[in-house]
Amino acid sequence: MGRFLYGVVRSMVVVMVLILMVVCVNGNSIGVNWGTQATHPLPGDILVQMLKDNGITKVKLFEPDEYALKALGKSGIEVMIGIPNDLLASLSTDMKSAENWVSKNLSSYVSSHGVNVRYVAVGNEPFLKTLNGTYDAMTLPALQNIQSALIKAGLASQVKVTVPLNADVYETSSDVPSGGDFRSDISDLMLKIVKFLNDNACPVTINIYPFISLYNDPNFPADYAFFDGFSSPLDDNGKTYTNVFDANYDTLVWSLEKNGYSNMSIIVGEVGWPTDGDNNANPTTARRFNQGLVSHLSGGKGTPMRPSGPIDVYLFSLIDEDDKSILPGNFERHWGIFNYDGTPKYQLNLGLTKVGSLIPPKGVEYLAKKWCVLSSTANLSDPQVVSSVSYACGNADCTSLGYGTSCSNLDAQGNISYAFNMYYQEQNQQDKACQFPNGISTVTTKDPSAGTCRFIVQIKSDAGSKAISSAGPGSGSGSRSCSVKAAAANLLFFMVIIVITIL
Ligand SMILES: *[C@@H]1O[C@H](CO)[C@@H](O)[C@H](O)[C@H]1NC(C)=O
Ligand SMILES: *[C@@H]1O[C@H](CO)[C@@H](O)[C@H](O)[C@H]1NC(C)=O
Ligand SMILES: *[C@@H]1O[C@H](CO)[C@@H](O)[C@H](O)[C@H]1NC(C)=O
Ligand SMILES: *[C@@H]1O[C@H](CO)[C@@H](O)[C@H](O)[C@H]1NC(C)=O
Ligand SMILES: *[C@@H]1O[C@H](CO)[C@@H](O)[C@H](O)[C@H]1NC(C)=O
Repeated sequence: MGRFLYGVVRSMVVVMVLILMVVCVNGNSIGVNWGTQATHPLPGDILVQMLKDNGITKVKLFEPDEYALKALGKSGIEVMIGIPNDLLASLSTDMKSAENWVSKNLSSYVSSHGVNVRYVAVGNEPFLKTLNGTYDAMTLPALQNIQSALIKAGLASQVKVTVPLNADVYETSSDVPSGGDFRSDISDLMLKIVKFLNDNACPVTINIYPFISLYNDPNFPADYAFFDGFSSPLDDNGKTYTNVFDANYDTLVWSLEKNGYSNMSIIVGEVGWPTDGDNNANPTTARRFNQGLVSHLSGGKGTPMRPSGPIDVYLFSLIDEDDKSILPGNFERHWGIFNYDGTPKYQLNLGLTKVGSLIPPKGVEYLAKKWCVLSSTANLSDPQVVSSVSYACGNADCTSLGYGTSCSNLDAQGNISYAFNMYYQEQNQQDKACQFPNGISTVTTKDPSAGTCRFIVQIKSDAGSKAISSAGPGSGSGSRSCSVKAAAANLLFFMVIIVITIL
């Protein structure tokens, strides 16, 4: 009798704990974009454990990154795998290459590693205006071929296809969502794609970036980019919009409805806010946006047009990537909710765990606690100073220097030290990476960080890991030539800063 009672009580406790766990998480449908364009990516297994610790159950990858996919095996985490635009040409013309793609980059991970693949994202923002129509003709055939290959592989019921679209595929003629329709130059194409997705019960995927609205237009009302109220809300036939996210999403809903697709499911493939590299990008604004977004979505709430929700979103992004092209802007390497080393950047409650804040990864290994700085005996007028800084910034990430950034408070010496240290850390603290000419640099064990400016110590990077892919706003064109151009632009920008600094 006693034992029986004990058993009952124990089961009740288990049930209560389970109920509590369900009650404590608020039913949000939040995934993250996991980009891997970092010089020192965190080991995949550490990151996957961190995702689990944070209750994150969905990730989106920009490529079938082997190290990420193997780490995701048997984790249960739902995965969306991206296909870069530069593969669309071959996939569109050749059914065999679509079959090979599915077999090599998808089926094998499902069958041999137990990866829970749920979506294939065919292309990335292929209809961006700036791409001049390069991918217009190939995207639909590539989508169709991938779908046929999934059917042939027996995976079509588990894995859905979609195309992540930039929000400029639709527009509104009247400044309100109800004026929405697909952009006239690609309207026929969009309708064919939407029909194909609808026929196959696949979602439409859209990337929404209020930060870019603010970045591109100095007159954009800042409060409208966030979720905590706007003094002159938009009225659309009685539907009220106080944030541009809802207005943007509903412009898509209207575009679909007008063309006879009122019931299609929508995924927000990317949404987020960066923390550095621009005057509007810092931990306070990023927290305001991301926490506002999470609260806005909580409990499965929707938009004025689809009030019952839930809105399916993938945050951009999980972690900073110091090797991304900065063509879109210096903020591009700072979209993570976690720093390069996995430490949380700010207090953010995703509503997915009982802890209510981001949980850092366990077992991250750092290099030694030392930094490379400008030597106290260096002569600032030495021409080697300027050339050394441009070398350092041409080869490492200096996007936290500049107007409105986390290191804009540094003095001339601080600016130079910052550049030297970024190069030294990027080079894994090799002695020769802190031997700039004429003895102008030196290694110190005293942390030079000051105020918001953090002088980093790099992490020990997993040899098996490799930076391959990522994206972000307007980055549909992530090609090699772009990053070369970006590096050149980067270098020029910082040379100007440092020359100004020294004069
Ligand atoms: C698999 O994906 C990678 C990365 O996008 C790509 O380079 C490769 O060509 C793909 N393999 C096949 C067989 O399509
Ligand atoms: C698109 O066209 C513009 C103007 O002709 C050009 O500067 C740009 O490089 C083109 N972009 C691509 C991706 O071809
Ligand atoms: C649209 O979706 C709703 C809710 O899922 C469903 O009840 C309704 O039958 C759907 N309508 C059509 C035309 O598919
Ligand atoms: C610093 O360098 C400049 C330029 O090379 C030189 O003219 C100046 O004499 C140097 N000052 C000292 C104190 O060495
Ligand atoms: C340091 O560089 C920043 C730009 O990164 C510049 O605004 C600032 O004026 C520089 N500091 C000094 C003392 O020149």
